[in-house]
Amino acid sequence: MKALILVGGFGTRLRPLTLTVPKPLIDLGNKPMILHQIEALKSIRVTEVILAINYQPEAMARFLKDYESKLGMKITCSQETEPLGTAGPLALAKDKLIDESGSPFFVLNSNVICEFPLEKMIKFHKAHGGEASIMVTKVDEPSKYGVVVMEETTGKVERFVEKPKTFVGNKINAGIYLLNPSVLDRIELRPTSIEREVFPKIAADRKLYAMVLIGFWMDIGEPRDYITGMGLYLDALRNKGSSKLSSGSHIRGNVLIDESVVIERGCVFGPDVAIGPECIVEEGVTLSRCTVMRGARINKHACISNCIIGWNNKVGQGACIEDMIILDDDVYGYDKIACNGRVPPS
Ligand code: GDD
Repeated sequence: MKALILVGGFGTRLRPLTLTVPKPLIDLGNKPMILHQIEALKSIRVTEVILAINYQPEAMARFLKDYESKLGMKITCSQETEPLGTAGPLALAKDKLIDESGSPFFVLNSNVICEFPLEKMIKFHKAHGGEASIMVTKVDEPSKYGVVVMEETTGKVERFVEKPKTFVGNKINAGIYLLNPSVLDRIELRPTSIEREVFPKIAADRKLYAMVLIGFWMDIGEPRDYITGMGLYLDALRNKGSSKLSSGSHIRGNVLIDESVVIERGCVFGPDVAIGPECIVEEGVTLSRCTVMRGARINKHACISNCIIGWNNKVGQGACIEDMIILDDDVYGYDKIACNGRVPPS
């Protein structure tokens, strides 16, 4: 079985992080986003993953070189010369996606995190006998997603409305599809949207089915959702009894700390914190609802909440940072805070 992951787009909502690293390679819970997906695909015996890419291909190629052998899977790139949207990349990769057995293939949006119940989806797809299956989840604010109107009992989709202007329902496209090869006959090789041009037609032909996803789900394409998604992911680790979560008197709730992190005394971490490899956290630091990425150094008594601290940053002594500040590679926390007029005590 094969899978395609849509890894295009510029990730503008996660800038400045995405200026140096493509969005799918940004860590969530100390693991590149795309690895969560590739590992889930491997666990259900997918043998080949195609990354549909149009931005920063070199960084992705370096990643692939490392992980193809580590994971023992074939991972290739299908590179667009112009952004082909969410359907065009499937037409471009058509020859790679079709195999002799005529099996259906998975398509994943790269910025979604959940527990990837892909085995269940295969069963669902086989049982309904339609042409395409999509996973859906309920949200409070559906207007920024694709909304699916479906028959509750069978899952047959009546309408698919991308980013509706008025309320049509609260079950939304979770960005995970299982498609028969015949869907490729519906897609032209040009910039085109699977949500606006393909799914509505398959739904009109009564061949599109939706399966309600169990468990957590989040699109982590913007900072606030990234932090929420990380919290949900850590919570799922807790529910599975994962030994990766830290414990101790300095830990509050779910906290993930890479084993190479140096931690000085008097720190308090949590809830919902991930600290990546080779970080140094000095005495008396408080971290909550934040990610600290590889190589960052947090100086004494800094207090960080609701933030993404990018690679190799230094957050100055006593700095107090809160609410979605993203510091990229080589940006010094101290300077940034000083610019904001919140100079930390010396
Ligand atoms: N290869 C390639 N080329 N990939 C692309 C391109 C492109 O030109 N444009 C977007 N993508 C990828 C993105 O990287 C992402 O993985 C996926 O396609 C979806 O694109 P977004 O632009 O992030 O869409 P969205 O978040 O507004 O909405 C989509 O996701 C929602 C769930 O998170 C839609 O699929 C909605 O229907 C869905 O509810």
